[in-house]
Amino acid sequence: MQMGEPYSESRPEPMSFDTESVRSDFPLIMDSNLVYLDNAATTQKPRVVLDALRTYYETYNANVHRAAHNLSDKATEAFERARQILAKRINAERPHEVIWTRGTTEAINLVANCYAQSRLGEGDEVLISEMEHHSNIVPWQIACAQTGASLKAVHVKPNGVLDLDDFASLLGDATRIVAIAHVSNALGTINPIQQIITLAHAHGAQVLVDGAQAAAHLNIDVQALGCDFYAFSGHKVYGPTGIGILYGKEALLDELPPWQSGGEMIEEVRLAGTTYQSLPYKFEAGTPNIAGAIGFGTAIEYIDGLDGDSLITHEKQLLESATAGLKAIEGVRIVGTAPEKGPVVSFLVDGSHPTDIGTLLDQQGVAVRTGHHCAMPLMEAFDIPGTVRASFSLYNRLSDVDRLLETVEKARSFV
Ligand code: ALA
Repeated sequence: MQMGEPYSESRPEPMSFDTESVRSDFPLIMDSNLVYLDNAATTQKPRVVLDALRTYYETYNANVHRAAHNLSDKATEAFERARQILAKRINAERPHEVIWTRGTTEAINLVANCYAQSRLGEGDEVLISEMEHHSNIVPWQIACAQTGASLKAVHVKPNGVLDLDDFASLLGDATRIVAIAHVSNALGTINPIQQIITLAHAHGAQVLVDGAQAAAHLNIDVQALGCDFYAFSGHKVYGPTGIGILYGKEALLDELPPWQSGGEMIEEVRLAGTTYQSLPYKFEAGTPNIAGAIGFGTAIEYIDGLDGDSLITHEKQLLESATAGLKAIEGVRIVGTAPEKGPVVSFLVDGSHPTDIGTLLDQQGVAVRTGHHCAMPLMEAFDIPGTVRASFSLYNRLSDVDRLLETVEKARSFV
């Protein structure tokens, strides 16, 4: 397939979902007593991803798009094939609408910087929400400070649901871009992205979706959503760290100026001036994370081979079971009770700091994250120091939920 061609192939037939067989694919999980419930921070990696990284470095390590030798051709082919896999996964119309980045953070920085350079000025507004991760707040604060635009944040209701009335009242003709999480990393809330995109577009605003917490758990179709940008990281979707993607609509990406500059992103450099490459390379200065991209593509092929609907049902069961169990423990309060949630449960234990509970769980072999989860404005809005967060993934079992509940009970008795 040539770059730029739309997809015509169909997705592979999914196999049925089986937790035990999935667990045997993850070396760190399969023979371990550790109950790993920090999947929203990073997921473990299946053997196929580890093999893909090793095979690249051992058998065809070379730079891409540059050399006239066979090894480089092989590396380039695998690198571009990975882009095609990613594009297909999210149903992008064309592979060159997928830009490799270091992760979600860099993808958002790319858009924020390009908007600051070309699309924001005095009187313009950027709309985010109180539940955003810092990586979807700070780049916009900087873009607004550089341009004189204003940053507005949609209120989050006490149950962790985005206040859509507030969203509608803040959205206006001055709104240039809405930047919003698909799924909250701290609470698990699934935001009504489709509705948000429709409303934003009616006001002529573009929408960037931070999909970091959605990509491993939901089926993403960027064409059906109609979003302008969609970003996520490889390491939260069973791939390597240091690699992610920014999806952008071709017409918009074409219009935006480049951000980082140097080799690879240029067409012709003269001391008098430079012309730039076409998509996607205009946004990919320097040697990319070749192994990371190949590993990311392999991770996506791995989850493409599972039955996505069964996976969603499985993770939902884990969430429901953990939620019901935690609710039943005296002194435990769940933070974030939206009706639509990804597999994340945040909670507090009366009379104890989240960090202490996290340490006590760790001592009992249960790994969770504690603290503000890079969402300090949300914690401030809720007037809490942070939470204990358990986040589930495809390789977790109901017995992991039982271990979580037992260890929370035990931790409660210590504090
Ligand atoms: N953003 C990641 C988390 O929520 C690191 O844990």
